[in-house]
Amino acid sequence: MQNQLLESKTLSAQQIAVSLVVIMVVAILVLSNLWRSSSPYTQEVLALQGDATLGHAIFQMNCSGCHGLQAQGRVGPNLHSVAKRKSRPALIEQVTSGSTPPMPQFHPSPHEMAALLSYLETL
Ligand code: HEC
Repeated sequence: MQNQLLESKTLSAQQIAVSLVVIMVVAILVLSNLWRSSSPYTQEVLALQGDATLGHAIFQMNCSGCHGLQAQGRVGPNLHSVAKRKSRPALIEQVTSGSTPPMPQFHPSPHEMAALLSYLETL
C-alpha cells in the first residue's frame, strides 16, 4: 500500500517534469518565431503585397537552377506546398540567411522578397 503511494508520487513528479519540458520547448519555439518575425526587414516584407508574377520571374532566374523550373526539385527540394510547411518568416529566413548550404544567401529587396513569397504560396 505504502509502495503504491510512493510510486504514484514519483509518477506525478515525472509528469510534472515532462510538462515543464514541453512548456519550455513551446516557449522557445514561440519566442524564436517572434524574434525571427520581428526583424525590420521581415516586418517590411510582410507588410507588402507581393506580386507573384514578378516572384515567378525572380525564381526562374535565381532559384530554378537548383529547385527546377516548375519548383519540382533538382539539387534543392521540391517546393510545392512549401508555404504550408513553413511560416512566412521561416521562408524569408530560408532565402536570406544562407544557413542551409549549398543554398546560397540571397539579398532580395523587401519588394522582391514579398514577390517571391507570393510566388511560393502559389505552389
Ligand atoms: C545552389 C542551389 C540552390 C539555389 C540557387 C536555391 N536553393 Fe533553395 N534550397 C537548396 C537546398 C539544397 C535546400 C535544402 C536545404 C536544407 O534544408 O538542407 C533548399 C531549401 C529551400 C527551401 C526550404 C524547402 C523546405 O522544404 O523546407 C526553400 C523555401 C527554398 N530553398 C527556396 C529557394 C528560393 C526562393 C531560391 C531563390 C531565391 C532558392 N531556394 C535558391 C538549394 C538551392
